[in-house]
Amino acid sequence: MTAAPDRTDVPRPAPVRLWEDGFAADPQRYYAALRAQGPVGWAELAPGVPAYLVTDRSAALDVLRDPETFSHDPRAWEETVPADSPVLGMMRWRPNALFADGAAHVRYRATLIDVFDLVEPHDLRARVHRAVRLLAGRIGPRGEADLVGDFSRPLMALVLNDLFGLPDSQGDRLDEGLGKMMEGGAQAAEGEAQYARYVLELIEAKAERPGDDLPSRLLAHPAGLTREEVTWQVFLTLGAGYEPTANLLSNTLSRILGNPAYYSTLTSGARPVMDAVVEVLHHETPLANYGVYYARRPAVLHGVRLREAVPVVVSYGALGLPRGPRDGEGSPHAGREAAGGRHPRDASHLSWGAGPHACPVRQHTMLLVTEAIERLTQWLPDLAPVLPRERLSWRPGPFHRSLTALPVRFAPRSPDQPGVPS
Ligand code: HEM
Repeated sequence: MTAAPDRTDVPRPAPVRLWEDGFAADPQRYYAALRAQGPVGWAELAPGVPAYLVTDRSAALDVLRDPETFSHDPRAWEETVPADSPVLGMMRWRPNALFADGAAHVRYRATLIDVFDLVEPHDLRARVHRAVRLLAGRIGPRGEADLVGDFSRPLMALVLNDLFGLPDSQGDRLDEGLGKMMEGGAQAAEGEAQYARYVLELIEAKAERPGDDLPSRLLAHPAGLTREEVTWQVFLTLGAGYEPTANLLSNTLSRILGNPAYYSTLTSGARPVMDAVVEVLHHETPLANYGVYYARRPAVLHGVRLREAVPVVVSYGALGLPRGPRDGEGSPHAGREAAGGRHPRDASHLSWGAGPHACPVRQHTMLLVTEAIERLTQWLPDLAPVLPRERLSWRPGPFHRSLTALPVRFAPRSPDQPGVPS
């Protein structure tokens, strides 16, 4: 919050409609329109569902780090939207860490951190390698693949189901329910119901037969979460993990494949994969508009008066520097050495959030994504994009930045060929 002048006398501009198809095709145009309104713009998440969109870094930090003024609890807002609003699947209250404030939040979040802490890096790496081996073995002999539908999404389903104690065969069910819910469109309610059934069945099974998996650890955690509370933490965590991480994977792969400077150095040990991931976190972050907060009382944020019960959305997508789709191309290492081997702008993006709700598993996620890409490119070192980046299409929806498909070609390769990683 700032002492900047209150600009509320200025008539409210027409809302920028993040639910339009054009948003997926060219988000920067929409973000530019929002930025033109000032640090806090006026948008619509769905027809008739307005929100304040925070597009300025300093205003974003003021929201993220001020739980006294901003709550994560959407219940007052829910009363203002129609029961069939397509964004409710993503935004409605549930008793989990994301929608809780204060002591309840600390309790839920601590249990999640505790159970994820038990996932050692070597263990996660082994699970990722198993998943890549399975998928690359499947697509390798074909010589062509869609790295979204044949790799990023099924990889996340395999890894998460593995961690959550479900068989590989359940991946399609997870993909279908969550995919529809995340798009926030006409099928969102159906997707939400499918996904909820998936999680409920999982928790019932783990309560009866605990195993060495995350839900069983949550059920046994000394914080004493009820079965219902565990269900909602799993609902949050599987969802929070699946969609954004699959999108981080495919957005990064598309940057790497579209940029010879990255691709030609993939095997040099220079960690260009990490650079590409960081570039995506800056300019094409998967969780584009899903930092959703609510002013607890009327407040002024960087000159804009906020009403209660209207979402204040930290636009992680708009916070990325508007340097155009070709940013970084040709010089993935520029300035890296000067920053001691660390990407010079790594610290300046906010794609993991900040403050009490910042993503609790960012380290796990970075390891998962970089391992998956490095392993895939070891299996298939000659991946070539079928389409130039500007011809790729993106899924609709206000919350995410998600490719529809990423078609590639490569020389067919069978799992028993020499040189294929074990
Ligand atoms: C396995 C992968 C992941 C898991 C399990 C996961 C889990 C979570 C959970 C449980 C929260 C809520 C924390 C809380 O409210 O205290 C959260 C928050 C968040 N996550 Fe992740 N996450 C994953 C990957 C990602 C990815 C790939 C991104 C984007 C780059 C991301 C960005 C965020 C952000 C921005 C928030 C805070 C949202 C806000 O402002 O309220 N996460 N994550």
